Amino acid sequence: MKTTIRTIGNHVGEEVTLGAWLSNKRSSGKIAFLQLRDGSGFIQGVVVKAEAGEEAFQKIKELTQESALYVTGTVQKDDRAPSGYELAVSSVDVIHEAVDYPITPKEHGTEFLMDHRHLWLRSRRQHAIMTIRNEIIRATYEFFNKEGFVKVDPPILTGSSAEGTTNLFHTKYFDEDAYLSQSGQLYMEAAAMALGRVFSFGPTFRAEKSKTRRHLIEFWMIEPEMAFVDHEESLEIQENYVSFVVQSVIDNCRLELDALERDITALEKIKAPFARISYDDAIAFLQKEGYEIEWGEDFGAPHETAIAESFDKPVFILNYPKDIKAFYMKPHPERDDVVLCADLIAPEGYGEIIGGSQRIDDEALLAERFKEHNLSEDAYQWYLDLRKYGSVPHSGFGLGLERTVAWITGTEHVRETIPFPRLLNRLYP
Ligand code: 4AD
Ligand code: MG
Repeated sequence: MKTTIRTIGNHVGEEVTLGAWLSNKRSSGKIAFLQLRDGSGFIQGVVVKAEAGEEAFQKIKELTQESALYVTGTVQKDDRAPSGYELAVSSVDVIHEAVDYPITPKEHGTEFLMDHRHLWLRSRRQHAIMTIRNEIIRATYEFFNKEGFVKVDPPILTGSSAEGTTNLFHTKYFDEDAYLSQSGQLYMEAAAMALGRVFSFGPTFRAEKSKTRRHLIEFWMIEPEMAFVDHEESLEIQENYVSFVVQSVIDNCRLELDALERDITALEKIKAPFARISYDDAIAFLQKEGYEIEWGEDFGAPHETAIAESFDKPVFILNYPKDIKAFYMKPHPERDDVVLCADLIAPEGYGEIIGGSQRIDDEALLAERFKEHNLSEDAYQWYLDLRKYGSVPHSGFGLGLERTVAWITGTEHVRETIPFPRLLNRLYP
């Protein structure tokens, strides 16, 4: 019977056939161990010479890495195997023989692996990261659907900018100028006024000149936007959402977390509520720790890491200075130098995973901000309309998928958290 590694546990004691690739092998004179992968998982196949026969055993010993095979054998329970099962192989048919697969089991440099990203994805580690990425996406849809949010898809080609004009990707839209979306937020605000609670999930683009372990040029964002929700309520939704996603990964990706040697006890602590500290207090804390940072400056990665180290859960930093945040953020009701916003900083040095805020709902104030930020009233007229016709308090946030995957999987650099990373100086493959 044909089966997959994922469901092989339903066939203990039976003979099954797997379509699989040979990811690695080792053998002695009498026995060969085949590390098999079929996309759904990894399993060890054991071939015993005495049972396979001299000729068949010799052929199996000569199989090359990444050759495609049909492997037939009997499923056995094996408590030592990570998957819990092993295949006692009776026969192997070669579908396609791979010659000189470039990624051998030895260590390779990062640039080499990045040049072979299309093959590197097959490794156990990359397979585990992509599987967890998928679980985070699945849990995201489950969470927001359960909470009554409607998924809305904002455009990718836009005539306006949400997050400043310095890192926009410019393109021509026939005779007009257009930009690749940096964030769907402004459109999601329009959608929230139509559908109440909405979320988006899609690619966003920033021509970041920074080469760090946290920055991609193309990354995927989850952007919820909620009518009649103030900033405090938005923070509660954020911490519940992040806790739900982490718990889903713990529940459904045990094998993958083990393959990555992720410290699960650190993830088990991620339960709402999360701590909240003000920007003011964060600056005072950093100064006390000896960092040279003044009120009004934005945090860099070392600052975020220093703050995060005081907590074993993500921490919200609240109320940043208005001058270092986006034009649409609502001023604090008691102070006009800070805004109603928060960044959520992941533990263990993974940095900011969420940026969110309450939005300006007053038409005159928003028009004033357009002037201060040199944004053309023409391009943003539609956005101003939202404050003209039934304006309500509303809030939203954006969670960066790749940084979240990096944190949950314990992956040092975001380049391993997206199938084909777009980085400064890298468009291949
Ligand atoms: O803080 P940001 O810029 O916020 C926004 O874009 C808002 N419009 C979101 C909203 O309120 N709807 O970006 C949100 C998140 C960051 O916290 C970070 O996780 C991720 O997006 N992010 C990046 N991830 C990878 N590479 C980059 N270059 C990123 N820039 C932002
Ligand atoms: Mg941000």
